[in-house]
Amino acid sequence: MVALVFPPKLDLARTPTPLQRLDRLSRELGGPTIWVKRDDLTECAASGNKIRKLEFTLARALEAGSDTLITCGGMQSNHCRATALLGARLGLKVHLVLRQEGPRPETPDGNLFLDILSGASLSVYPRDQYQRQLPELLQQWLDHYRQQGRRVWLIPTGASDATGVWGYIGCARELKQDFAAAGIRPGAIVHATGSGGTQAGLTAGTAAFDLDCPVWGMAVCDSADYFRHKVHSDLRDWRALYDVDLDTDSLAVNVNDSHIGPGYAVATEKVFQCIRQVAATEGLMLDPVYSAKAFQGMIEEVKTGRFRDMDDLVFIHTGGLFGLFSQRHNLGLSDR
Ligand SMILES: Cc1ncc(COP(=O)(O)O)c(C=O)c1O
Repeated sequence: MVALVFPPKLDLARTPTPLQRLDRLSRELGGPTIWVKRDDLTECAASGNKIRKLEFTLARALEAGSDTLITCGGMQSNHCRATALLGARLGLKVHLVLRQEGPRPETPDGNLFLDILSGASLSVYPRDQYQRQLPELLQQWLDHYRQQGRRVWLIPTGASDATGVWGYIGCARELKQDFAAAGIRPGAIVHATGSGGTQAGLTAGTAAFDLDCPVWGMAVCDSADYFRHKVHSDLRDWRALYDVDLDTDSLAVNVNDSHIGPGYAVATEKVFQCIRQVAATEGLMLDPVYSAKAFQGMIEEVKTGRFRDMDDLVFIHTGGLFGLFSQRHNLGLSDR
């Protein structure tokens, strides 16, 4: 065990979250017993994985005297929605720099609807411009608010940085207790990976707390190489910022990038089938962008690959429910 000194955090999330056994689905699949760490229950509208990171990020922002938050992501970003809601909860102004995905909806839906309801300011950019100019766009908005005399805290994509890493180190500490309470030694911990912060935290946390269980990130965009580099780089920054004595460069960063499908936020029928199956078998809601893509990839690996020969398998449900609503037309339910 490595003695880690956690920095101050805000108490925003409902943690520890439950670890739930999926008996019916596990029987149906005929593989290992699947357990779900219910991080979709970390809050209500601000639920999901981002709130764990933001507890640390926003503590730093408040400590620095910030009154304005700027962050960025896709139009249906769960991270932006969580930041918008938590900003409102803390009395902070929030500005979201959003990447347009496909045609702009006539009626705002899902996460975007909640962003607007929370009073966040939005600026939406065409995908190409966002990809080419994100740092400049963020700087523009930073300058804009600073000129108004505001104290701005800039949060990177997904709050995945040296500070955000603490969120899933905290989750790894919870998992250690969950596994002891359930009397299990899982063969793997599996989760969706999108900006790398959840994986960075779990990778460092499982090492620091001796969980003796590999963490597998199922990529929903970008390659395994990209994520290995991103995770190691965030962990290096984390060690430097908090003076941590843990050799993270030697830790394995396991990423599976074979279940991304057509691209970020675009899911195949298999993923929608998985959403329907898990909802009907267990009453558990997955979303097509993150959790279902990762869950479906995990099931394929149970059937034919890496996760076949183990007794217990743990899936971290990182939330994302609201993203389901903006893709409801893909679920094939309209004729019922
Ligand atoms: C619901 C959900 N699950 C998983 C992820 C991936 O987490 P991370 O960005 O820490 O890789 C995200 C965000 O990217 C998310 O919104």
